[in-house]
Amino acid sequence: MTKPAAIRAVKGFRDVLPEECRRWQAIEEAAAATFVRHGFGEIRLPVLERTELFARSLGESTDVVEKEMYTFVDRDETTVTLRPEATASVVRAYLESGLAQSDPTAQLFYRGPMFRRERPQKGRYRQFYQIGAEVLGREDTLADAELLVMLARILAAVAARGVRLELNSVGDAACRPAYTERLREFGRRHLAELCGDCHRRLERNPLRLFDCKIETCRAVIADAPRIVDALCAPCRAHLDDVRALLDGAGVEYVMNPRLVRGLDYYVRTAFELVADGLGAQNAVGGGGRYDGLVAALGGPPIAGVGFALGLERLASVSELVAEDAGPAAVVLPLDPAGVAPGLRLATRLRDQGLAIGLEPSGRSLKALLRVADRRRARLAIIVGEDELAQGRATVRDLVRHEDRRHALALDAPGPELARFVRAFLETPA
Ligand code: HAM
Repeated sequence: MTKPAAIRAVKGFRDVLPEECRRWQAIEEAAAATFVRHGFGEIRLPVLERTELFARSLGESTDVVEKEMYTFVDRDETTVTLRPEATASVVRAYLESGLAQSDPTAQLFYRGPMFRRERPQKGRYRQFYQIGAEVLGREDTLADAELLVMLARILAAVAARGVRLELNSVGDAACRPAYTERLREFGRRHLAELCGDCHRRLERNPLRLFDCKIETCRAVIADAPRIVDALCAPCRAHLDDVRALLDGAGVEYVMNPRLVRGLDYYVRTAFELVADGLGAQNAVGGGGRYDGLVAALGGPPIAGVGFALGLERLASVSELVAEDAGPAAVVLPLDPAGVAPGLRLATRLRDQGLAIGLEPSGRSLKALLRVADRRRARLAIIVGEDELAQGRATVRDLVRHEDRRHALALDAPGPELARFVRAFLETPA
């Protein structure tokens, strides 16, 4: 019979192994603790939504909706999409669950996988993870500023290096249409220098010109009119106010007048976290205000502001060290007769909160000790024939290379066993 071929993960999808998971957990915990300190509650959202949710909120002419969504027709003929982001889902849940009435100024955070069918490359995956936060029902500039202060606290908590906050205003329904028209006119004057995609963008949504990755287009767009120069008085005042609050709070940022974000729901405040050392995929996170989104999804005119961090990218700029100390002890039954007592012993110790390894019998003591060493355990608890006869295990300090024969009563109560093991952990190696 031929050996079946190994099955590989789908392109752009990858596994996150324990070592990387430990770092992610440390980052997620630091972020979650910061969210909780700021009064945010966690929300767990489905990964599958009706396609219409994203089509209506992110914008039909965005790259995400035009070409990056994983969309399929479900067996009941509903067209569904693996979520490319979570803001739309948060707003849907806010309306659907009645939070909009019971807790109109909800502050929610989330973490989990998002799906975009982009071209995979370093730092860009088709399944990637975000940590994000959304504030609903707050039009005031304090909401923007406090969110950005919180973002800065998260970056500090995960020891993120070389990340800067870039800030802009993208205007609102009062001032953006006139600006968009000026941008369109500018683009039309430079048609010959712009790519086919940009020609399309120019007609459908000129703001999307700023998304083009092609160098020649970027060179043209560098001279385009800037939205920040075309803001109406209320948008200008909003921006000035947010900046004053950030300055007062000591949050560092740089103004980037060309920052427009890749999704259509933004108004006024828009920001991105940009890392220097990350190459092309240098956005660690981004967000902004989306005051029209709740209404666009069928709700009342309720404001919103939020952000999302890309976990893979955040991890790559974070200097947080995730400890991997190895188990306190590994229980080593030498013969089959030692297996059941070994399992009981390990369980009692684990119940006391200790990390304990347990190996199957059938190998030599030497081989088992090598395993315990490889797992970086402090102690080996040996249950051999002799130990079973005495009812007491032999304990070897794997760091100091010392044996204590028959030191540990196999049927001792858990707390006593744990005290014994902890006494070793507390003595310096
Ligand atoms: P976004 O800028 O599309 O915003 O994504 C946020 C972050 O997710 C990016 O800055 C990046 O770090 C990460 N990211 C995006 N695509 C990929 C990918 N293909 N591979 C790896 N990482 C990726 C949003 O998603 C908005 N929902 C943020 C928001 C929340 N705005 C308001 N509230």
